Amino acid sequence: MFIATKVWPTHLKYDAVIKAAKRSLERLGVKYIDLYQIHFPNRRVPITETMRAMEYLVDNGLIRFIGLSNFSLEQIIEAQNALKKHEIVSIQMPYSLMDRRIENDIIPYAKKNGIAVIAYYPLGHGKLISRFPRDALEMISRNHGTKTAAQIVLNWIISKHEHVFPIPRASNPPNHVRENLGVAGWRLTDEEIRYLEGIRFS
Ligand SMILES: NC(=O)c1ccc[n+]([C@@H]2O[C@H](COP(=O)([O-])OP(=O)(O)OC[C@H]3O[C@@H](n4cnc5c(N)ncnc54)[C@H](OP(=O)(O)O)[C@@H]3O)[C@@H](O)[C@H]2O)c1
Repeated sequence: MFIATKVWPTHLKYDAVIKAAKRSLERLGVKYIDLYQIHFPNRRVPITETMRAMEYLVDNGLIRFIGLSNFSLEQIIEAQNALKKHEIVSIQMPYSLMDRRIENDIIPYAKKNGIAVIAYYPLGHGKLISRFPRDALEMISRNHGTKTAAQIVLNWIISKHEHVFPIPRASNPPNHVRENLGVAGWRLTDEEIRYLEGIRFS
């Protein structure tokens, strides 16, 4: 198990971060959290204060790694510079075939600096599945064995980038969760990637 959770932006003062982490530990019934992420930045609290608390949590074994979510590239760099001993290991942002805004800044920066990008809304809230064209489904299934639209749009992320990891929501464990696991173990070709990028989903 690798447990990841987030601290809400109203809890980013030094004492509040530590209190929020301890309450999460109690609620989860665990001794430490693997990845503790700042859910959104809060301009009213200096990032140096928040990061001092995050380093306290790592140094005291309450969390293992520090992550961010919904930060701009500039804010990511500020957050990293505010850390004295530890490093940012991940940044969680919306990313999918329908929303490629982070491709020119955060994704290359993260690659260069060994930061994992956690892609949320990777299925475009399910729209990428309902709008997926039949001819693309058939073409990719011919080349790779039967694949579903969900598996293809998730595979587009992991085929394109080694450091970007989609987190699809699935509240239907026996079906959607199992289906989404079928994203692993195969890769789209560059040509297929380009083909998918040419489809208008919105
Ligand atoms: N960092 C942040 O600020 C932030 C903000 C919001 C959300 N998130 C994260 O983003 C993730 C997803 O958000 P989202 O639900 O809006 O978008 P999404 O993952 O793009 O889409 C989820 C939708 O797709 C459906 N689905 C999943 N697998 C499917 C499959 N194989 N076939 C057909 N439909 C499938 C789900 O249905 P079922 O539920 O019926 O399986 C659900 O309706 C969550 O993990 C959440 O924690 C992060």
